[in-house]
Amino acid sequence: MHRLLPFTLIISLSASAQVNLIPLPAEMRMEAGTLDLRCPWAVEAGAPLHEFAERLQAEIVPLHPDEKLACFRATSIDLKLITPDTLLNAEWYRLKVEPSGIAIAAVTEAGLYRGTRTLVQLLEQGRGSASLPCLTITDQPRFGWRGMHLDVCRHFFPVPFIKKYIDLLARYKMNSFHWHLTDDQGWRIQIKGRPELTAVGAWRKGSQVGAYANQQFDTVRYGGFYTQDEIREVVAYAAERHINVVPEIEMPGHALAALAAYPQLGCTGGPYAVERGWGVFPDVFCAGNDSVFAMLQDVLTEVMDLFPSKIIHIGGDECPKDRWKTCPKCQARMKADGLKDEHELQSYFIRRIEKFVNGKGRKIIGWDEILEGGLAPNASVMSWRGTEGGIAAARSGHDAVMSPGSHCYFDHYQGDPANEPLAIGGYTPLQKVYSYEPVPAELNEKEAKHILGAQGNIWTEYIHTPDQVEYMAAPRLLALAEVLWTPKGKRDESAFIHRLEQEFPKLDSLHYSASRSLYQVRITPKQGAKPGLITVELESAMPDIPVYYKFPGQEAGAMAKDPRKGPMAPQKQRYTGPLDVTAASTVQAWAEPEAHFGTQATYPISTARFHFNKATARPITLSNPPDERYNTGGAFTLVDGITAGSQRVNTEWLGWKQGVTITVDLGSVQHVRHIGIGAWNDAHSWIHLPAEVAFSTSTDSTTFTPFGSAKGQVAGGRNDFSTEGQAKARYVRIAVKSIGNIPDGMPGEGNPAWLFLDEVEVR
Ligand code: ACM
Ligand code: ZN
Repeated sequence: MHRLLPFTLIISLSASAQVNLIPLPAEMRMEAGTLDLRCPWAVEAGAPLHEFAERLQAEIVPLHPDEKLACFRATSIDLKLITPDTLLNAEWYRLKVEPSGIAIAAVTEAGLYRGTRTLVQLLEQGRGSASLPCLTITDQPRFGWRGMHLDVCRHFFPVPFIKKYIDLLARYKMNSFHWHLTDDQGWRIQIKGRPELTAVGAWRKGSQVGAYANQQFDTVRYGGFYTQDEIREVVAYAAERHINVVPEIEMPGHALAALAAYPQLGCTGGPYAVERGWGVFPDVFCAGNDSVFAMLQDVLTEVMDLFPSKIIHIGGDECPKDRWKTCPKCQARMKADGLKDEHELQSYFIRRIEKFVNGKGRKIIGWDEILEGGLAPNASVMSWRGTEGGIAAARSGHDAVMSPGSHCYFDHYQGDPANEPLAIGGYTPLQKVYSYEPVPAELNEKEAKHILGAQGNIWTEYIHTPDQVEYMAAPRLLALAEVLWTPKGKRDESAFIHRLEQEFPKLDSLHYSASRSLYQVRITPKQGAKPGLITVELESAMPDIPVYYKFPGQEAGAMAKDPRKGPMAPQKQRYTGPLDVTAASTVQAWAEPEAHFGTQATYPISTARFHFNKATARPITLSNPPDERYNTGGAFTLVDGITAGSQRVNTEWLGWKQGVTITVDLGSVQHVRHIGIGAWNDAHSWIHLPAEVAFSTSTDSTTFTPFGSAKGQVAGGRNDFSTEGQAKARYVRIAVKSIGNIPDGMPGEGNPAWLFLDEVEVR
């Protein structure tokens, strides 16, 4: 019985304005009328859907409005599988809210399940007003692989959390969970035929503490693994949510935990230890030893029994070739099989494993290094070192899943590191994820069909707890979910952020520790009106939330001022427009919502420290531009007054794949005593210090006189290259020479080394 009282009508008008779905459906049409939610609900479905319907009924009972009506009959929620005239996507569904009830139709149970995720979000929103606006949603995903990954090796996460993580994926219609189960720091899956893998390989004698550069370790025994029963439980849990679990068994690299258990499977015979630190290590599976393949085939047989996934991840990334080069068994294999180098030996390894997996009716996927030395015939590629791997795979007719570090690594910082827990590095804020386009522009239509979708990765070197996994995953996962589900033309960042604002309280109530880094104010220095002047823009992702700033403890003589307001005081001010900064000062800025959708009241404060030297905000030219991936603020970044700090953030560093010559015009001939520049050192991320930095000066920009040179610093993190001298100069030139390709034995060997530079210092 549906009595449409005037009261209900008024409420439902506001309800119609509040349909906030993530991901946004392909099509949504608002209809006239409302559905009163206060009668009891009855999920109705045919017999084959009996269990599905029961689970849904149990799930939605708590979403019922508190106010109940005595009704002649229940409001039906009708679930139906249909056989359409035309071919529809397997995850297609249509959801109708009508005054008489709700109906969801789909072609498969998976489609029906996706429809029920929309239903749950609608019922949550309708709860307060006890009604829903009538509407029709016709929906289907843009991509078939909508994935999230989780590394349980660097840190271990118990089964209840794995299920909670799967729930998060399910809520946003993700359909693939990539479970990274083996690595140097731990083997996390019980293998009955090889018990030592977990007896030995699941435990390490300590863990790295703090930043990579410090190389400090504790001595606390750490580990854990999933029993086969637990694995089955997780797989079944995911299956109910129509999420495929893709297990990853790493080979031939990242294998130290396995080698600690079975040292005879390494080239040197060991002994090996389960690794305490994070990185890439030279000891890998021996590619010349048949027992390695026998062991891995036994492992994969048990894995394929546990995981119904049609696709099995065999790792393949970051496998140093040092040991293979000197191993008699590996060299004999190369000779016998006519393999011309160690890359071909890696290809041999993967092909041999692929053949075995294919023989069991499954396919393999591997990280993009499996392209090196020749891709196995039926393999798919997970493109992580950029998009090149995915492009190469698609062009050669292989499927690819895109997971480039630039947009899909959710272990990167999502806000100013000053406000964030220690992370591995990088800078991948929510907006960057939302802007991601999985299909590389380089591909034609036919090739583009091989791009199955994309995946967000959560590596856990610096992520110790379930809370922190959630913090790194949400809300970036929600942005990626919309990228992968919603038609490209419907994507709209600011509309998404508004929907997200209303989703935050929901994430809170589901006990997910979602990050609010989005609310951090971006402090962007720009070239001011005159050389030597910096103008600072403050920007919040939420245009409707006021931004405040202050200059705390302003240094004596600082002349930071708001051009509209005159000289600045160190007290809090509301931001109304760009600020001029002309002397050393610290700016703090934050968004301060008055009452914003009930989201939390504390917001992170962003801080930028400005230092001035003779080169600051002076005209600067570069011999060649930075790589587009590391060029956020352009050449000005090198003279913007902000010295890139001890945690790497890609917006503060400019990155090149070769050397560069930098010229700064000081504006007038001056006495120069010191010239310097900072460089970043992180071999694990392929970032190396310059081979040499040469400084020179000029009065006329044509004839440059050597001023000195610097080289050889080796600490992790920031290194300063500088020299002292005496010159009268207007122009300062800094020639930075790259080391060229990464030396053998280091991560990324043979690839061009990255050169990361920030802040020219002239005194
Ligand atoms: C990876 O991040 N090593 C795939
Ligand atoms: Zn070997």
